[in-house]
Amino acid sequence: MQEALDLIDESADMEVWPDENPPAPEVMREKASTVDGILTNIMDRVDGPLLDAAPRLKVISQLAVGLDNVDVAEATRRGIPVGYTPGVLAKATADVAFALLMSAARRISESERWVRDGQWTLAFHPLRWLGVDVHEKTLGIIGMGQIGLEMARRGRGFDMNIIYHSRSRRPDLEAEYGLVYVDLPTLLAESDFVSLHMPLTPETRHYIGEAELRQMKPTAILVNAARGPVVDSRALYTALKEGWIYAAGLDVTDPEPIPAADPLLTLENVVIAPHVGSASLASRGAMCMLAARNLIAGLEGNPLVRCANPEVYKA
Ligand code: GLV
Ligand code: GLV
Repeated sequence: MQEALDLIDESADMEVWPDENPPAPEVMREKASTVDGILTNIMDRVDGPLLDAAPRLKVISQLAVGLDNVDVAEATRRGIPVGYTPGVLAKATADVAFALLMSAARRISESERWVRDGQWTLAFHPLRWLGVDVHEKTLGIIGMGQIGLEMARRGRGFDMNIIYHSRSRRPDLEAEYGLVYVDLPTLLAESDFVSLHMPLTPETRHYIGEAELRQMKPTAILVNAARGPVVDSRALYTALKEGWIYAAGLDVTDPEPIPAADPLLTLENVVIAPHVGSASLASRGAMCMLAARNLIAGLEGNPLVRCANPEVYKA
């Protein structure tokens, strides 16, 4: 991470926001008014008013693959390229999604709480802590981008049957990885595990709501390592509480951080990680380097290494 800052420092005058909390919008607008480039993370809102306040801006470099905090259309309208960090975090994020899937299925977090609580007093009980198997089950993946594909590869390693639903069908991957494309109702009805890997957009907000949860098997597990708002969290609470589905594994919540009083935290059959999908040393390091390279390329007027709106170069 320091390496990425050093790289930027070598080619630009750099100011680093010193606080862990993001700047208030008016502070961000004031800072943006004099800069040629900004490096953002998912807590920073980059919208029309910010761009209006930044007449010199030549590049936005986002340290994430998700861009729901950035109004990419507004940036494109102004001819500003938006960098992001796909690819380098796909395996790490799928690892966390699969870890949540396994923890929810085999009740690892729940039973660990019980151990730490001093309740493990009988060495072994043949009928205690029974969960559900992962191997040879059906994994339904929604969103077949790079992270969805890595999730499919992990599922294949566990001898799972993989079905998927995605905005764009991927016949090339179907042949290579043995994936079967299905419509959403089929995916919901047939999957033992439903794993979400789509971006958050106006179309995917509450993509999984009451109607979808009711179509899932009562033994099914929902995994969300995408964005919290793609699931209607109130409906998810009811589904977990009333047993419409068996369990959930979440790396993302709505809102983030999840408030201490959120009813989901009262349930045992949900595993919640604090948005750590890409948080391995190596993957986060690679993201930082890619974000730095995108920023520098934009400052120097070169095409970004990974650009979310390459149409700006056609104008
Ligand atoms: C993290 O959530 C990302 O979008 O990279
Ligand atoms: C369980 O610990 C077993 O040996 O089957």
